[in-house]
Amino acid sequence: MQNDNQNREGFSSGLAVFFATLGSAVGLGNIWKFPYLTGEFGGAAFLFVYILCVAFVGVPLMISEFYIGRKTRLNAVGSFEKLAPGKPWKVIGYAGVIAAYLIMFFYSCVAGWVYSYIFKAIRGDFIGITPETAQAQFGTTLSSPWQPIMWQIIFLLVVGTVILLGVRKGIERVTKTLMPLLFILIVICDIRALTLPGAKEGLTFLFNPDFTQIGPLAILTALGLAFFKLSIGMGTMITYSSYFTHDNNMINTATRVALSDLLVSILAGIAIFPALFSFGIEPTAGPGLLFMAIPLVFAQMPFGNLLLIAFLTLTGIAATTASISIIETTTLFFTEQRKVSRKIAVIINLTVIAVIGSLATLSADKTGVLGNVKIFGKTFFDLFDFTSSNILLPLGGLFIAIFIGYVIKKDDFVNELTNDGLLKSEGIVTAILFILRFVTPVLVIVIFLNSLGIINFN
Ligand code: PHE
Repeated sequence: MQNDNQNREGFSSGLAVFFATLGSAVGLGNIWKFPYLTGEFGGAAFLFVYILCVAFVGVPLMISEFYIGRKTRLNAVGSFEKLAPGKPWKVIGYAGVIAAYLIMFFYSCVAGWVYSYIFKAIRGDFIGITPETAQAQFGTTLSSPWQPIMWQIIFLLVVGTVILLGVRKGIERVTKTLMPLLFILIVICDIRALTLPGAKEGLTFLFNPDFTQIGPLAILTALGLAFFKLSIGMGTMITYSSYFTHDNNMINTATRVALSDLLVSILAGIAIFPALFSFGIEPTAGPGLLFMAIPLVFAQMPFGNLLLIAFLTLTGIAATTASISIIETTTLFFTEQRKVSRKIAVIINLTVIAVIGSLATLSADKTGVLGNVKIFGKTFFDLFDFTSSNILLPLGGLFIAIFIGYVIKKDDFVNELTNDGLLKSEGIVTAILFILRFVTPVLVIVIFLNSLGIINFN
């Protein structure tokens, strides 16, 4: 009933739409990447630039992808073929599928670390931990080559299982129950962090901006993070919105998802930064930041180990639900464009990700087997991350903005987003279209050129 394409599954309600979309947005991006990038690029000023990117680039593009997906009820490539037959716009979809793989190569590595930390916490490895042993623990996690790869594969098997269960039984059920729980646990973590001796310094770092820290790379990174965080620029939101209900208010959904996602990131920052200052860990510690800080936040508090297990488990779940949306993007591409079964599509995806993803895992640390192998001056891990977040997603977003702004008919865009006039939001849709035509593309192009050194504000 919900879908135009027969035999196609879809989400059952507005609430399911919201939680599934939020489940894609909220993930390691909030709990792992946002804090470490904010730490690396100087704190509050970076947060400020990031928020601007979310508002003027992220939300309008999310709405654009919703339009494309729900209108066509097709995957990332098929949707462009349907809207612009015979034209090259579907290249955006192909680039998205490639970006999805690149992200999964390193994402599954970090998610594997989270899963291994859950196991270690259950075993009691973090009881009585100190700042020195916390750093050492992270080091040993990375130094053995096989263990992290084993955890990475376990993670991929979990993701594959949920995808095989399908849209409603898998994606919908998992996201609806677990997202609210994650939120509650982060708040508990915050309360603890705010009572640490370094709390004030941590909060100043996070909220008191110093704009001298902001250079072209920081701005490009904030833009890339906005894309990565909101799962846009690569067709994931096209894929999910192809399962949306007809009566969903998509502008509302996009705004609520973006705000909730931002809230989770900031709450994660409040949990982590006070701990860093309190325990003397450098905020610029990089990808290991979360793994060194969080066990310390929970150490020595009542029921600390139990709460740590719960927090890590929910982080693992957030990573799982986000990955489900990434792999769903490539899976739907294979089932609809290449007509293979869902099972075969999942098997192909997981195999490719496990094999190439292990390169990311082996290169994630200087001491790793591939730790010193550099391509274009970057390790495999960094290369997969940089190419997807900072290049492919912003480029995808740029072309989606141009596509909606200049190729799609305005009436068509307005009709779909107002649910054929049922919602009285035509004015807002016109404003969004204005942003998509004149603001989003200009911002993305300027940030790109600036980061390449072609134009320079500094
Ligand atoms: N938004 C997810 C996160 O923050 C990652 C993601 C990127 C998911 C791109 C889907 C598409 O963890």
